[in-house]
Amino acid sequence: MDQPRLTREEKGMLHGAQGPAVKRAMEIVVALGKIYGAPHLVLVGSVQVSGVSFKNLGEAGLAFLQEWADQGAQVRVPTTLNPAGIDTVRWSILGFDERFARQQGRVIEAYARMGIQTTCTCTPYLVGNLPSFGEHIAWAESSAVCFANSVLGARTNREGGPSALAAAICGRTAAYGFHLDPGRRARFHVDVRCPLHTLSDWGVLGYIVGRQVRNAVPYFDLGDQRCAPPEPDTLGSDLCADQLKALGAGLAASGAVALYHVRGVTPEARQGDVLADDAQRLVVDDLADGYQALNRGTCRVDLVSVGCPHASPRELEQIARAVSGQHLQAALWVTTARETRERMPHAVFAIEDAGGQVVADTCMIVAPIEELGFRVLATNSAKMATYAPSHSGVQVRFGNLEQCVEAAITGLWPAVAANAERHPR
Ligand code: F3S
Repeated sequence: MDQPRLTREEKGMLHGAQGPAVKRAMEIVVALGKIYGAPHLVLVGSVQVSGVSFKNLGEAGLAFLQEWADQGAQVRVPTTLNPAGIDTVRWSILGFDERFARQQGRVIEAYARMGIQTTCTCTPYLVGNLPSFGEHIAWAESSAVCFANSVLGARTNREGGPSALAAAICGRTAAYGFHLDPGRRARFHVDVRCPLHTLSDWGVLGYIVGRQVRNAVPYFDLGDQRCAPPEPDTLGSDLCADQLKALGAGLAASGAVALYHVRGVTPEARQGDVLADDAQRLVVDDLADGYQALNRGTCRVDLVSVGCPHASPRELEQIARAVSGQHLQAALWVTTARETRERMPHAVFAIEDAGGQVVADTCMIVAPIEELGFRVLATNSAKMATYAPSHSGVQVRFGNLEQCVEAAITGLWPAVAANAERHPR
């Protein structure tokens, strides 16, 4: 395997001319380039780093970050963080353990010392980290990668935590995979023949297709029900942006999809032919199997989790309208970016007045919710429903927002009749 071609400056960085922290970062980026046959490196415009929750990092991960920060590592491009293990402000009210919160604080402090913005969210594109079409970036969170590649037309591989951090420190990543045109062609043509009414329908479509295409690029033909292409500057209030966010999260959770195209909607599909000549055809005419596969809980629900990926301002408003004036029986945690929580005081008030919580900086997968006593979680997110049993030790109920709100109000999962009716087997 050949090493990527390096510029004079990059060779110097690799051999320690800019210090040990940059040398270490370059070693990681160049090693990945060698493994994947990258011809050269590309400059990146922004980075999103995963590996933030102390639940996943543990003491060894914290020590690794502190050591890199002690070496003087500094990021060269705007860099944000994935969700952490706690709401960094309201962790105590929410019942998180003090020792865990302390260690989580040290993780964030290590990142802050490297110059990283401590915005902890999986929707950085809703709070200012918004790459442009064709821009090379190095993002790590799988649903954010899918959104950036597909909806924004930026170019990123599915980075791991250390490789994204390395890219931020040296300002470069290896040019392979989704950075290059051939890697962006669709290998599956997915003909969607069933209606998509709710965000959970979009998520479950992603779940069903992700299981089949695994890490390949799908091209969706939604017939005449396609949504309007979202505008980058109004993503937070755009229904289509939320639908595509849910679709990408489902694809990335059940498969390892990093890019999808939608006929007439996503930017590359609107610009030209993105289908490979030998693309395989798939037909989806029913979502019921996906709903059934993701429903593995009892009827009694003790936690309703909405906001995976992190809720947009539009979703916060929708949830606020649905619970306003209610008295919730089950815990309702709506997860979102801190900036979104701060921008939406009226929605936050309505949700919290009903007994729910608008939780920032974290989510139910990376937070240690198993230690908070929750047993059955209800969600409208296919990604959350996929991961919660294995990552958080809870049973799951999966359905649309209306069902989730009803579960929060009554503490019981509503009869599954709604989905059965809409998606007859
Ligand atoms: Fe985000 Fe957590 Fe879901 S990181 S995509 S809210 S599993």
